[in-house]
Amino acid sequence: MKTLVLYDGRHGFTERCLGLLARESSADLDLWPIRHRRGVPAWEGYQGVVFGGPVYFGRWSPPLTKFLKKHAARITGLPLASFVVSLSPRAAALNYYRRDLPPAYTDRAALVACFGGGIEWKKLAWWERWLLKAVRGVETDVSNLNLAEIQTLANWLSANQPST
Ligand SMILES: Cc1cc2nc3c(=O)[nH]c(=O)nc-3n(C[C@H](O)[C@H](O)[C@H](O)COP(=O)(O)O)c2cc1C
Repeated sequence: MKTLVLYDGRHGFTERCLGLLARESSADLDLWPIRHRRGVPAWEGYQGVVFGGPVYFGRWSPPLTKFLKKHAARITGLPLASFVVSLSPRAAALNYYRRDLPPAYTDRAALVACFGGGIEWKKLAWWERWLLKAVRGVETDVSNLNLAEIQTLANWLSANQPST
């Protein structure tokens, strides 16, 4: 059976991380970009759920949080793991994640991987550049990709494959 990956992301770094995750894990992943995909997953077809996305201006993906809250009854009945994409240090990234997510998720996720984050300056909208420069003093490409955390989640996924 497949593992559903519910994720958000605007500029491609999250998808790059998920590509690395798929390469490092033996699990069969079904990627579901909640920002672009309509409808609702067929929950009964999945053996587990991984969910995650980036922090933008101090909030961990509001569209993802909304989706997770709406479908909590179905999702929290499955084995769960999660990830945060953020340029902040691990403790701050985890604070963003915990702040808006119900305990049904934070208590039940087997692990929270902090993938780090990355900005490709040329991919940003003009207003994102303006705000990042004004608020964070960032005005160039940045990355603190954490391969070890991606590997940790990949190992968890591989270990949680049903034996067929
Ligand atoms: C407009 C913007 C605002 C951001 N704000 C924060 C922030 O408040 N805290 C943080 O840790 N990272 C912040 N980041 C970093 C993102 O979490 C990081 O760039 C992430 O890799 C974006 O993923 P994506 O490329 O999949 O959209 C911000 C990035 C952008 C582009």
